[in-house]
Amino acid sequence: MPKAFYITTPIYYVNASPHIGHAYTTIVADVLARYHRLLGYHTFFLTGTDEHGDKIAEAAKKAHVTPQEYADKVSSQFRRLWLELSITNDYFIRTTDVNHIKTVQNILDKVYAAGDIYFGYYEGFYCVGCERFYMEKELVNGLCPDHQTAPEHRKESNYFFRMSKYQDWLIGHIKNHPEFIRPERYRNEVLAFLREPLEDLCISRPKNRLTWGITLPFDGNYVTYVWFDALINYITALGYPDSDRFHTFWPVVQHLIAKDILKPHGIYWPTMLKAAGIEPYQHLNVHGYWNVDQSKMSKSLGNVVKPLELKDKYGLDAFRYFLLRDMVFGLDSNFSEDAFVQRINSDLANDIGNLVSRTIAMAIKYCNGRVPQATAPCADEDRPLFESAQKAIREVRSCFAELSFHKALIAIWELINLSNKYIVERQPWNLAKEPTNKNRLDTVIYNLLESLRIISILISPFMPTTAPKILAQLGIEDSNSQNFETIKEWGGMPAGNVVTRGEALFPRIELQKEEAVEPEGKGNQRQKELTPMKPEIDYEDFEKIDLRAARVIEAEAVPKSHKLLKLKIDLGEERTIVAGIAQHYKPEDIVGKNIVVVANLKPTKLMGVESRGMLLASDSDQGLTLLSFDRPPRIGAKIR
Ligand code: ME8
Repeated sequence: MPKAFYITTPIYYVNASPHIGHAYTTIVADVLARYHRLLGYHTFFLTGTDEHGDKIAEAAKKAHVTPQEYADKVSSQFRRLWLELSITNDYFIRTTDVNHIKTVQNILDKVYAAGDIYFGYYEGFYCVGCERFYMEKELVNGLCPDHQTAPEHRKESNYFFRMSKYQDWLIGHIKNHPEFIRPERYRNEVLAFLREPLEDLCISRPKNRLTWGITLPFDGNYVTYVWFDALINYITALGYPDSDRFHTFWPVVQHLIAKDILKPHGIYWPTMLKAAGIEPYQHLNVHGYWNVDQSKMSKSLGNVVKPLELKDKYGLDAFRYFLLRDMVFGLDSNFSEDAFVQRINSDLANDIGNLVSRTIAMAIKYCNGRVPQATAPCADEDRPLFESAQKAIREVRSCFAELSFHKALIAIWELINLSNKYIVERQPWNLAKEPTNKNRLDTVIYNLLESLRIISILISPFMPTTAPKILAQLGIEDSNSQNFETIKEWGGMPAGNVVTRGEALFPRIELQKEEAVEPEGKGNQRQKELTPMKPEIDYEDFEKIDLRAARVIEAEAVPKSHKLLKLKIDLGEERTIVAGIAQHYKPEDIVGKNIVVVANLKPTKLMGVESRGMLLASDSDQGLTLLSFDRPPRIGAKIR
């Protein structure tokens, strides 16, 4: 029996059109599903739409259509978007589907029969945006902390789920299963919440106020609270309770959500499952928020980023690559189109684009357009390339296991960059000048083609259209014939394959704005500005500057600053310095780096933080780059 893998996204509300946040979660789920299929897992990938409740009823009313008509329209927008983004979901669930309604009623009956649902009276503050009641102490200045709107005060008789009964069980389960909710910061958040006594959950709405929902099977005057309804989608789609699919996939289910819906998934859902006698899920994977210009996306701010527009403008794989490369899973990220274009130009056009076009051009020119035989014995100088490929494969696997997608891409790009370096160092154009070098030349070209094959497989979950395009250029038409098994060993590239040139994978993007201001590109412009050298100084003057080798131990953003990072460094002693590099390095990317520091600069305060030293950096085409070392330095050593 192959191993099984089940991944779900949240089912999205149909009260508004999809934006970049929805696209991100669904693309991450797709990357995970594709990756597991490549590893030979039996995979089930679920997404869908959440269609009941006040929110949708209100949106439909405003649009002068029925809730069902409204839901139909927006749900199909989501489905269309997933097609455009090459999302490979196996099932698309809608909470208005008949099988879902039946499953919800089945679970309600079960929990009611077990005595865990009771009738009671409720009075509280209700936020329609969140579809939930708030305790007074949870409100900020009387407003919903998420929507900054005043909640409605509601008094009504309702049905309640005895959630409090399962509080101790849930705490124990989370403590005994460290990977139940991950990354750890969200596990801790749920545990912190559970330190307070858990209230029972109001799970009904009277029909005299809301009819757009699933009728309670034991009281026709009420509909089901939208969260109790929605969460159950994850088992409906598997054909709960009796289908094989449920037995295969439920034990390995992993949910993927953003931090906004941690509480329903971290608390309501496991206690609901427990009450219904169903095993809890295996993992709840929680990511951060995409913000725009450092603020939350919202219609009123007019900063909602539309995925289809970006995909149409820059291409699908560039869009998917950017989202996965620029967000550290679990943390918030800031979307900027400039950063996106920089990534396209450097990582895609320059690194992988050039590698493919140069390698293919050389195979055509020097090997008559066929994959040559690697006849020369393996040279020591080739070994770093094989080893880098093996390392990339290992790291991709371990990064996927910890949901570190950006690191998986960094590992693949190390192989891409090493392959580019291999071209520069092996100089096939020089080997081609001497017929006696033919075997060596063939081997070098073979190695490059083989490296491209491995790179294609590794990028394929992220970039599903680019990978087959590269493979086709290598004469491998059936990209499905390739997987992790076929890249285990170096040398799987069939000799004799016909190599063909394709169109440029990622043409460079020129930003109009940049062209107008900096006609020769940023790097050149900066260089020009720097050209006038400073007046000469005596050696004694230079000697006054105490430059030291240091290592970054911790890094964090300076609050309210776009530019500054606060770094704790080791330079023989621990120091704090503040550096203006936040637009070029993320805190987590700089930790562990060896840097050069001016150690005897007088302390100064930047945005209220004292800085005792200054790191050195230079301009590059991709922004600032840190001065570093080509071998690990002795920390604290003087720079001479
Ligand atoms: O909450 N950054 O639906 P929803 C990253 N129907 N991801 C974001 C995001 C952002 N700025 N904004 C939204 C609901 N998302 C419920 C779910 S599940 C049983 C019911 C993504 O349409 C992210 O996945 O408000 C988040 O959790 C989800 O959209 C919320 O979608």
